[in-house]
Amino acid sequence: MKVAVLGAAGGIGQALALLLKTQLPAGSELSLYDIAPVTPGVAVDLSHIPTAVTVKGFAGEDPSPALVGADVVLISAGVARKPGMDRSDLFNINAGIVRNLVEKVAVVCPSALIGIITNPVNTTVAIAAEVLKKAGVYDKNRLFGVTTLDVIRSETFIAELKGLNVADVKVNVIGGHSGVTILPLLSQVEGVSFTDEEVAALTKRIQNAGTEVVEAKAGGGSATLSMGQAAFRFCMSLIRGLQGEANVVECAYIAGDSEYAPLFAQPVLLGKQGIEKILAVGELSAFEVQARDSMLDTLKADIQLGVDFVK
Ligand SMILES: NC(=O)c1ccc[n+]([C@@H]2O[C@H](COP(=O)([O-])OP(=O)(O)OC[C@H]3O[C@@H](n4cnc5c(N)ncnc54)[C@H](O)[C@@H]3O)[C@@H](O)[C@H]2O)c1
Repeated sequence: MKVAVLGAAGGIGQALALLLKTQLPAGSELSLYDIAPVTPGVAVDLSHIPTAVTVKGFAGEDPSPALVGADVVLISAGVARKPGMDRSDLFNINAGIVRNLVEKVAVVCPSALIGIITNPVNTTVAIAAEVLKKAGVYDKNRLFGVTTLDVIRSETFIAELKGLNVADVKVNVIGGHSGVTILPLLSQVEGVSFTDEEVAALTKRIQNAGTEVVEAKAGGGSATLSMGQAAFRFCMSLIRGLQGEANVVECAYIAGDSEYAPLFAQPVLLGKQGIEKILAVGELSAFEVQARDSMLDTLKADIQLGVDFVK
């Protein structure tokens, strides 16, 4: 397996690269790219860790050498939030970065599975899809917005609130990856029940958890370590699917059956070609139905912004 990380010298990229270097299957290749000149050095640093994973680093304007033969491409290149910003404030810079990188992916490794981490995810995934369509290589089963951070935050916060073993908590988070578009399906969490007040407070905390980190870091960036772990978990699930493992399920922001919006985060079964099956979101509580329906205008507008950007 070859995994390429684009944006690899950043806060997320370095945390993710460390986890991948230590835990990718033996024989894997890790390819690190960033415009930052430090990137080959990040690879040299990681290469001293004794695992059977080779690592190479690439800097400069062209990501192509890093992409050759990649099975999975994870994109975290771009700028992150500062206090007072929401994810849509990042659009002006990050939209062009994602477009340019995905244009290269479309040429060099068009059949790779692509995970977009760069915010605003609701829009950058739409940009990636349009770029791949223009290049004639779009496969909706191979493009993912990485929303795993919303899932691991939900698992953590639910376990904390209810005194559960966090390893036993499973939760689906649907919709998108910003504010009200993040919808954890608390009614489906097994073995636990929540009061209406708990549902309202927990949903709000999960939706605002990114801001919790941005404010705590006081101008020093947004979530990097927890996001590194989330992207690592998602990447390992992609790889387990590619290797033919059964029953690998993750939530991700994907082009589903368009029941709610052209892109929508929901559980998917992963396999040798990426998405093997889109799974139903299941039964929702009245609170969740209301939250799902009222997010759709925001989500669709975010998606349209991405479509229009590439036109
Ligand atoms: N999906 C999520 O849940 C989630 C969570 C947290 C952050 N994010 C997003 O991830 C992105 C990265 O966050 P971070 O904290 O790692 O930021 P960071 O500033 O620490 O790192 C970003 C890296 O991207 C690099 N970069 C910029 N332009 C590039 C280009 N054209 N090609 C290659 N590399 C380029 C920079 O040199 C830098 O090393 C941000 O957009 C942030 O909002 C997403």
